Parts: sequence; structure tokens; C-alpha cells
Amino acid sequence: MKIVVAIGGSILLQDYNSERFRQYSEILKDLSKEHELFVVVGGGKPAREYISVVRDLNAGEAQCDDIGIEVTRINAKLLLCALGDFAYQRVPHNFQEALEFSSTGKIIVMGGTEPAHSTDAVSAILAEYISADKLINLTSVDGMYTKDPNKYDDAELVNEITASDLLEFLNGKDMKAGTYEFFDTTAVQMIKRSNLETVIANGNTPQNLVKAINNENIGTRVINK
Ligand code: UTP
Repeated sequence: MKIVVAIGGSILLQDYNSERFRQYSEILKDLSKEHELFVVVGGGKPAREYISVVRDLNAGEAQCDDIGIEVTRINAKLLLCALGDFAYQRVPHNFQEALEFSSTGKIIVMGGTEPAHSTDAVSAILAEYISADKLINLTSVDGMYTKDPNKYDDAELVNEITASDLLEFLNGKDMKAGTYEFFDTTAVQMIKRSNLETVIANGNTPQNLVKAINNENIGTRVINK
């Protein structure tokens, strides 16, 4: 299968150490024997810290986004280091480059592309662009909850949701640089219009990636109706 995997920056860079990169690189190397893999890496805490400095310097939102994009590309380079020869050792800056580089048969790793969305959207657009069979979004929560699980004890994990319902749920959430809530609406628009098979799961357990690929019941599945 052709698979796009989005890994949130908060997953790879909770602390500044190599462990997560190593764990993910082992799993990705293994999966690449069977699947064609495209990985999109988020910015995490370093991106938010840089963005807050630039914002204090009175930069506009798009300029803040631009700094966020640079950080995602640095994170992509770290994952490339861990993957070594299994990956194509250049970070695509746009979708066409991603497609071009993939002709090498190696794992492709990229970060952001342009302002006004997050790497969730990049992963969904990339999935459209390359006609992926699956989009897997690894984030810092188990999936989508009925309410904020950090605030409400009775919050329940949603196993399955339509792209339209997810869009409605996300409506009105914050869209400023560095502050994309749970999932980026641009990503959901792509999932909806192209019927992308999508799973959102907790990336703090890297093995969840394998489970999501194998259709095990994990996280939140976005279905299209
Ligand atoms: P992330 O995709 O990591 O955003 O990109 P996020 O959702 O806020 O963070 P995590 O990683 O899931 O916790 C970091 C920031 O970079 C900019 C945005 O400002 C985003 O918030 N960015 C990223 C873009 O403007 N365009 C892109 O294509 C990617």
C-alpha cells in the first residue's frame, strides 16, 4: 500500500532526545519492506517556542507560520538521520518534489509546505496528491473524544466519525500559527473530498502505527458518507 503517516511534533520531540526518532525509524524501516511510505513530521514544542518569539517581534501570522515550517523541516531532517539509507535524504518542500523523490523507492520525509495550515493538512493534501491508500495521523491523544478528556471524566473516545461531522466538531476552533487544535479543518476537507481512508491514533505508542495499518480497532477512524 501507499501510506502517508503524519507524526505530530509533540510525539517526536516531547523531550530533546533521540529515543522516539529511533523507535519510529525502526518501525518505518520494517514497514517499508511492504509499503510505500511518505512521512510528514510536525513542529511540536520547538515550533511553538520559535513562533512565540517571532510573534513578540510583531511579525504577521504568515511569517510566524513560515518559522513553524522551518522547524518542521528540521524535525524531518532528524528523522532522516535516524532512517539513514532507507530514506531519500532530502526534505521535499512541496508535493511535486515529494512525488519526484519517491521514484527512488525510498521513504520520503517532509515537514510543512506553505503558511495557513498545519502538517495535518500537508499530510492530507499529500495523500490526495500521491493517491495514497491510507492516511494515518499519529497525535498525542488516543483519537477524538466527545469532550476534552483532560477536563471531563465522562469524555468518550469516538471510534468512527464521518468527515462532515468532524468538520462540524472542529468549526470555530483556533487557527493561529502554532495553535491548531486536535485536527486541522483543511485536512478534513481533503479527507472528505477525496474519500481518504484515515485513522487518527495515539503516537506515543509507536506500535499503534502498525495496528492502524493492519486495520485493528485503534483511535478514531474517519469515514466518508
Ligand atoms: P504543526 O503541524 O506541527 O502544527 O506545525 P501544530 O498542529 O500546531 O503542532 P503539533 O506538532 O501537532 O503539536 C507547526 C506550525 O508551523 C506552521 C503553523 O504555524 C503550525 O502551527 N505550518 C506548518 C504552516 O504554516 N504550514 C505548514 O504546511 C506546516
